[in-house]
Formats: sequence, C-alpha cells, structure tokens
Amino acid sequence: MTPEKTFYLETFGCQMNAHDSEKVIGTLRERGYRQVESEEEAGLILYNTCSIRDKAEQKVFHRLNDYKRLHKEGKRFGVLGCVAQQEGENIFARAPHVSLVSGSASYRKLPEMLARLEAGETRITGLDDRQTEETFETEFTARQNPYRGYITIIEGCDKFCSYCVVPYTRGKERSRSSSSVLEEARRIAGLGYTEIQLLGQNVNSYRDPEGKCSFAELLAAVGQVPGIRRVRFTTSHPRDFTRDIVEAIDAVPTLCDHVHLPVQSGSARVLKMMAREYTPEWYLERIGWIKAARRTISISTDIIVGFPGETEDDFMQTMELLAEVEYDCVFAFKYSARPNTPALVMIDSVPDVEKSNRLQVLLDRQREIQRVNYSKHLGQILEVMIEGQNPARGQISGRSSQNKPVNFTCSQPIAPAPGSYVQVRITATGPNSLTGVAV
Ligand code: SAH
Ligand code: SF4
Ligand code: F3S
Repeated sequence: MTPEKTFYLETFGCQMNAHDSEKVIGTLRERGYRQVESEEEAGLILYNTCSIRDKAEQKVFHRLNDYKRLHKEGKRFGVLGCVAQQEGENIFARAPHVSLVSGSASYRKLPEMLARLEAGETRITGLDDRQTEETFETEFTARQNPYRGYITIIEGCDKFCSYCVVPYTRGKERSRSSSSVLEEARRIAGLGYTEIQLLGQNVNSYRDPEGKCSFAELLAAVGQVPGIRRVRFTTSHPRDFTRDIVEAIDAVPTLCDHVHLPVQSGSARVLKMMAREYTPEWYLERIGWIKAARRTISISTDIIVGFPGETEDDFMQTMELLAEVEYDCVFAFKYSARPNTPALVMIDSVPDVEKSNRLQVLLDRQREIQRVNYSKHLGQILEVMIEGQNPARGQISGRSSQNKPVNFTCSQPIAPAPGSYVQVRITATGPNSLTGVAV
C-alpha cells in the first residue's frame, strides 16, 4: 500500500490568489491528495504567496523558517503565487528545504510538477516571463464558499503602474473566452450558487478572444444566467471603465449596486509618476457616470499614501478627492518600494512616520464620510444575503447588494439559513455596518 498523500495550503494576498487556491486544491485532490488543517499533519506544505507590499512578502519567509524543522521528518515544501514568480530560483537559496516554486501563470503544469515532486525531485520550477498565453481553468475547483462562486475572467496585467509588482508576477494580460466563462457560470448556478463574482486584476480590461462580447455585455450575460441573483466584479481600472458598464448595471437587476474603482491618488502630478495614465478630472468623469445611474451605486477605492515625491499639497488633493467622491469604502496603503518596479529608482522621500500620519488622517476623514453615507440607509428595507450567524447573540449577518455588512435579528423560531436572501429594515447605522430586523 502506498502511503497517503496529504497537503496543507495557506493563502496570502488578494481574491485572485484565494480563487487560484481553490483551483490548486481541486487539482491536488484530483491527484489523490487529502487536505489537512496544519503543517504538522501534512506531507506537502504549500504557501500561495503575495508580494504586493514588503510586509506581505516577509510573511512567507517567516512561515518557511518557522516550519523548517518539519523538513527533517520528510515533509516537502512548495512556494506558489507572486513571491514564487518574483523570486524564482532565489527561493531555493533562501530556503533550501523548498522543492517546488511556481507562479500562477504556470499552474496549468501543476499535475506534471506534482508528478516530479512525487518522484523525488527537489528543484522544480514553474516560472513565466510574461510569455504565456495560457489561462488556468479546471473543472475540479474546490470552492470554499458555498454561496458565492468566483470566476476568473482575465489573468495578468499589462498596465505597468510604476509601483506595482503584478505585471511581473502574474504575466501578461490574457482573457478567457466568453463561452467558457458563461459555461462555468451556468455550471455553478446549476450547483446552487446564487452569487457570482467575476475576477481579474483589471476585470474590465477583459477582451473576449472569441470577439463575441465586450466586458459590459459579458457582465449582463452572466447576470441573466438562470438561478443567479447577484453578480459582482472586481477590480475595475479607471482607464478601461466605460459607460456601458453603468448602463448594464442599470439594465440588469442582478448586477450588484457596487463598483470598486481604485484611484490611488488625487494629485495629477503623483498619478503621472505612478504611470496611471489618467488625471483626477478624467477619473471624476467616470465617477460622474456612476453617480448619474438610475440605481444608487456604491463606490469604493484603493489609495496609496506617501508615494515617492508626494508633497503635503499632493496629499491634500487626495483628501479633496475623497471628500468629493464620498466613497463607501476605502483601502488605503502606505507606499512600499517593490523589487523590479520602475518606482524603485525614485527616492522614497516620505519618511515612514509621515506615511503613517497621512494614512491616519485619511482613514479618520473617511470614517466620517462613511458615517454620513451609511446613515442614509436608516429606515430603508434592504435585501441581505446571509453569510453567518451568531446564535449566542441571536444575530444574523450578511451583505447588501452594495456590499455593506448588515447585522440583524429575526423573530422567526427557525432563523433563515446562510445563503438565503432576507429583507431587512435598517434600524441603526455606524461607519462600517448597518443594523436591522428581518421583515
Ligand atoms: N489592478 C488594481 C490593483 C491591484 S493591487 C488596480 O490597478 O487598481 C491592489 C492595491 O494594492 C492597489 O490598488 C494599490 O492601492 C496597492 N498597491 C499596489 N502596489 C503597491 C505598493 N508598491 N505599495 C503600496 N500599495 C500598493
Ligand atoms: Fe498593478 Fe497597475 Fe496592474 Fe493594478 S493596473 S495590477 S496597480 S500594475
Ligand atoms: Fe498579492 Fe499577487 Fe494578489 S502580489 S495582491 S497575490 S496579484
């Protein structure tokens, strides 16, 4: 009898990574591996890594170091994802107990790489220098969320913002055919999923290789798949944000009232240094389209503070943009110098304490904006998809179409199950969530 094959997989980073892990898990199971809950129990230990900022990257080396001793017991280590692609074979030098290093653009070769690992090889690489046209599609995806199904429609990035590793870690931009996306949407709807989230580093840069439909048309088509009640998409890039996306949201009720549109900075000068290739005015024009929709569409964004050369005045322009757009949610980060990126040659001029200071000022202001935005829901009835329950407190939690967290109580003897949709009257609001009762 051959010994049982087991693996432990931990995922860092963005939603694309989380969904890649669902596909990697499916691929491993297909090869007879069983997933376990800890490094100690596993024969194969995998980390799916992120290198978007310095701290994210350090995590994987700490983790590899923490569990190095397990190598003596015959356990094997693999590094997947963005740090793997970025560092390549250097990982073998930094962590000699690692046997497998693969970036996401090489996952199609995972079965072959696993076979080599099982045969005892210890220096296996799957690395891609922005050459591959392949996308990673598998029917074995091990979906971890029972209600929301993720579908990657475009991989890689061709935008080359000056601060960002993604074009180097995830390869060139390549889209899946619209027919394969729709087939997957129908398949998971058939399995009982009611929410679909379309994924891509720049999801709206989608170009159908079959030439059948635009991004907005694909969005509308996914929204019309029988059984699907909610469709989300992330992340949109302002450069490829077209008016027909807003028109699709207005026309198709299942498309959620939410657009995530990262701005990064409110200063034209900084945006230019970032190579974002738009101005604040150009960005605000797109925000104008979204705000002019018939439905009230929630808007969220990403912001970087302390980019090289960012002055107090530049930062103030970001603060002004924040006040003008009145976002419902902001992910703000301190600039982090990354290997191989063009911004690396710029002087990281803003001291860390000043970056932290700007971040805090921004988050404090944003909290007040959200307090006002969220208070507008008082008295409204919103449809909530239930995600979790806290029986001890008698509370049920979920999200509105706008992606706002809603906590509510329900007077029925049997509380509605996770995954179901409930109408909730909002009775109280805070800067980050809504509270209510099921009606
Ligand atoms: N493709 C998306 C962003 C993906 S990365 C877009 O262009 O909008 C997610 C976020 O991480 C970015 O929006 C940016 O705000 C942040 N980020 C990327 N590189 C960074 C860096 N070097 N330092 C700090 N934040 C960074
Ligand atoms: Fe990075 Fe820019 Fe590509 Fe977004 S668009 S992933 S920030 S290079
Ligand atoms: Fe991180 Fe790679 Fe995603 S760098 S944010 S895991 S694309």
